[in-house]
Amino acid sequence: MKIILCKSYEEISVRAAEIVADVMKADPACVLGLATGSTPVGLYQKLIEMNQSGEIDFSEVTTVNLDEYYPIAPDNDQSYRYFMNVNLFDHVNIDKSKTYVPDGTAVDPVEACATYEALVAQVGPADIQVLGIGQNGHIGFNEPDAALEVATHVTDLTESTIKANARFFSSEADVPTKALTMGIGTILSAKKIIILANGAAKAEAVKKMLSGKLDTSCPASMLNLHGDVTVICDEAAMGR
Ligand code: PGA
Repeated sequence: MKIILCKSYEEISVRAAEIVADVMKADPACVLGLATGSTPVGLYQKLIEMNQSGEIDFSEVTTVNLDEYYPIAPDNDQSYRYFMNVNLFDHVNIDKSKTYVPDGTAVDPVEACATYEALVAQVGPADIQVLGIGQNGHIGFNEPDAALEVATHVTDLTESTIKANARFFSSEADVPTKALTMGIGTILSAKKIIILANGAAKAEAVKKMLSGKLDTSCPASMLNLHGDVTVICDEAAMGR
């Protein structure tokens, strides 16, 4: 894994945006794999600025998001569809019909996952996948477990993830307990991966990811199986 050590969150966002922008310039009809959470917000802000200044163009871009809570409506302000609209899609010249997020309203979530897996294969693979990392080492909603799922699947959120995400909801009890998420195989199918981490709360997870071991108690460690992964993090996330 390549590591870009940054001095600040601002620098993480700038370096990540440069890498995503390079992919978009090389192929204006590229497929971007996108993530939610606090970490990529600065990256999306930079991409919006680059789009508004004319440096990058989203008109032919397709996006596939990692995950979505289940069940949740797209207009719920905690849904990941809503997050993507507010933090990126509403501010760039993207065709929203080519932006995909797993369907949090599906009657049959298992079928929705199979449909999403097929969709990612059909429009993809992603030219670049953006990832954050959970404090527990999760990527997407692939939570630490004895065995990890390869494909898009329905998952139960762990106690740690529900607690970490409670800050976005009125109370912990309001955090959905399930999600639809790309599997480890879906994520690894991307041609290029960047994983962003900032702050000391991520240090333990980053350390395990970089330990050189494939450890299902740190799903991000599976990224070691991919040949083109760049970790973009600050010194606190590196445990310094
Ligand atoms: P965060 O979440 O960016 O809000 O810290 C990252 C993640 O859980 O993947």
